[in-house]
Amino acid sequence: MGYGAAIQVRGIAKSFGEVRALDGVDLEVPAGTVLGLLGPNGAGKTTLVRVLTTLLAPDAGSAQVSGLDVVTDAKELRARIGLAGQYAAVDENLTGLENLTMVGRLYGSGRSAAKRRAGELLERFDLLDAAGRPAKTYSGGMRRRLDLAASLVAEPPVLFLDEPTTGLDPRARRGLWEVIEQLVSGGTTLLLTTQYLEEADRLADTIAVIDHGRLIAEGTADQLKARIGGSVLEVTLESPESAPAAIAALDGLGDGEPVVEDGLVKVAVAERSGTIVAAVQRLSAAGVGVDDLVLRRPTLDDVFLALTGHAAEAEPA
Ligand SMILES: Nc1ncnc2c1ncn2[C@@H]1O[C@H](COP(=O)(O)OP(=O)(O)OP(=O)(O)O)[C@@H](O)[C@H]1O
Ligand SMILES: [Mg+2]
Repeated sequence: MGYGAAIQVRGIAKSFGEVRALDGVDLEVPAGTVLGLLGPNGAGKTTLVRVLTTLLAPDAGSAQVSGLDVVTDAKELRARIGLAGQYAAVDENLTGLENLTMVGRLYGSGRSAAKRRAGELLERFDLLDAAGRPAKTYSGGMRRRLDLAASLVAEPPVLFLDEPTTGLDPRARRGLWEVIEQLVSGGTTLLLTTQYLEEADRLADTIAVIDHGRLIAEGTADQLKARIGGSVLEVTLESPESAPAAIAALDGLGDGEPVVEDGLVKVAVAERSGTIVAAVQRLSAAGVGVDDLVLRRPTLDDVFLALTGHAAEAEPA
């Protein structure tokens, strides 16, 4: 195990029947850092989180978390990690306070210590007013916060968050980001999966992109952005039907293949000078009507699209 690695993954594979959910994943997360795991639906993110949190045995490969093997040291490891899942593990019939107190008791705290810790977390997650209500009366955002609070009861040094802010409104999402940033500044190692690239950009030290069970890219947000070239040329078409003609016209203009997304054609370009003029000339010669044409810095969305061939899930309205 690499010195200082809180999470170490080597050649992990897992199949469900014919589906190779994980196809030989290698990964290392240094202690005290945040890894953002990105990938389209079905890429294998949740499967990897389940393997690393001992909920699922891998078919091949090995993984250590906090120096403990996820298979042979599973029981000991479970006490040292926190997990907030894509599918919240909250008991619907218990109140917020009861849910958190129960988790504390499961981790071996005495009744009053468990209750005190539950109160602290309810306050931190802005759930004090709802503490005495059954979780089934909570909104989606409150449930997410309760689930995240439950993952923090034991103050685990390594935390796994599987899409922690999916379904939250922008305000609630920013609130959770702040809580997560506080945790990380206190030294917690975090592996976070997300569909929101803005979230990865803000929270993650390193980003790993997974698709079809394989790691296809890894680096800081800036490194990944630099990989797809200096700038992105973005053309808004007058009519979406002209996309094939626009792609043909722009092919070879930049470094990357032109891609279409919602009537927008995007091309990664290394060289800025002359690009706009050349693009206008090519499109005009091909008879493609253009509404708008801009050259801008690449975003993580561009990286994701270039790597996986499809866009990350759109922000909910
Ligand atoms: N218990 C299971 N039984 C059968 N197939 C499964 C099971 N769990 C996952 N899979 C399959 O494994 C693949 C990876 O699934 P996984 O849930 O890890 O993806 P994900 O990246 O978390 O996707 P999402 O973004 O939708 O949450 C998918 O094809 C999925 O259908
Ligand atoms: Mg998932």
